[in-house]
Amino acid sequence: MTVPTHAPQRRILQGDLLDFTADPGFAAPQEAAGVRWRPDHRVLIDQGRIQQVLAPGEALPEGWQGVAVEAYPGQLIMPGFIDTHVHCPQLDVIASFGTELLDWLNTYTFPAERRYADPAVSHAGAERFLNALWAHGTTSAVVFPTVHKVSAEALFEQAGARQMRLVTGKVLMNRHAPDGLRDDVEQAERDCEDLIARFHGQHRQAFAVTVRFAPTSTPEQLRMAGGLCQRHAGTYMQTHVAENRDEVRWVAELYPDARSYLDVYDRDGLIGPRAVLAHGIWLDERDRAVLREHGAQIAHSPSSNLFLGSGLFDWAQAQREGLAVSLASDVGGGTSLSMLRNMADAYKIQALQGTRLTAWKALYTATLGAARALGLQDEMGQIEPGRFADVAIWDWARGPVASHRDALARASHAGLHERAFVWMTLGDERNLVSTLVAGQTVFEALGDTH
Ligand code: GUN
Ligand code: ZN
Repeated sequence: MTVPTHAPQRRILQGDLLDFTADPGFAAPQEAAGVRWRPDHRVLIDQGRIQQVLAPGEALPEGWQGVAVEAYPGQLIMPGFIDTHVHCPQLDVIASFGTELLDWLNTYTFPAERRYADPAVSHAGAERFLNALWAHGTTSAVVFPTVHKVSAEALFEQAGARQMRLVTGKVLMNRHAPDGLRDDVEQAERDCEDLIARFHGQHRQAFAVTVRFAPTSTPEQLRMAGGLCQRHAGTYMQTHVAENRDEVRWVAELYPDARSYLDVYDRDGLIGPRAVLAHGIWLDERDRAVLREHGAQIAHSPSSNLFLGSGLFDWAQAQREGLAVSLASDVGGGTSLSMLRNMADAYKIQALQGTRLTAWKALYTATLGAARALGLQDEMGQIEPGRFADVAIWDWARGPVASHRDALARASHAGLHERAFVWMTLGDERNLVSTLVAGQTVFEALGDTH
């Protein structure tokens, strides 16, 4: 549940800190660089930001003696997770049976998104969605609302009130979608300009030029979207690319003069360092080079790729080629907002291709890795002085099976990675104890649910 607290300006959290200082890559667990484990440390938070981290026995600085210590003995304190691709309105269609991408959009998703034309639905949906993110330990997200301007306004307003880092923008789609879900180029441009003027750079919010995907925009709309990216250099761009084979074929038919699906976006200036492209399963080597040269990122969406039968993203190949990859739930194509569950799915996707994803690489990617890919590493992704206090506190295990397995991992000589991997593989939102956004508690688990 969400607890609207009026937390004191200063807080001290005490527990076992885990975060990252570098990309562990696909190195074996014991050779992985950048893992920072600080047991029983204290995190001093002042006015929403981390002020200092103290080792056991270190004295509090002047003026902090009266601040109560919030102790979480034996529990894990981590930077909040960053979900780089998720659809707010699709909580309504999560776990829908029986279709691949294009049928899934028409059968389930588009009807659900039409309801967001109603401002009351948009506002209630935004509230439900943000509460759900926090209840899964996610403190920041790159979000698709709907084509309706009000759906983006609702997210901006509610995230802004919590000082949450949120990247979103109204969805652009002017064809191949039902009535009530299409915009037109001129009105869409005016709406985007207005949203940029009112929300971009306010609080911790950023606007994203949000092209649903190439099939639902005309070439004119893509040109307009590229113009927005060029005129507003600090904005992000989010879209889908090369997710599903039928989709890729359809894009080739719709844009016969483009070299590839990615090229449809690239030739209109949509690909830059702030571009977040979901999926990218069916890209070729040249596409990946284009993304790397622009510093754009793929938002790898493991549970969605499995659930919609889209394909197996080759993360190790992307890493070898120097491409930035973040992790995303892609709910409602994805089946869980839990980044832990998505990491466990990512492990299985790599395992099917002969690669082993360590817990270090997965946890790095959902924290500092995502912050870096978004250019926000000075703001979030680590438990480090100066960063916003976006923090999640976790239990290592919930329930008898996980508790038993965790106890064995703790006792083994394999080290911390085994424990972290068991947590990543068996854990989910039920392990979450508390979530802070900018130093304020936004979620607290009720009671002991062991
Ligand atoms: N491609 C275009 N729209 C969507 C969407 O809503 N979800 C997913 N997974 N892929 C898309
Ligand atoms: Zn998506």
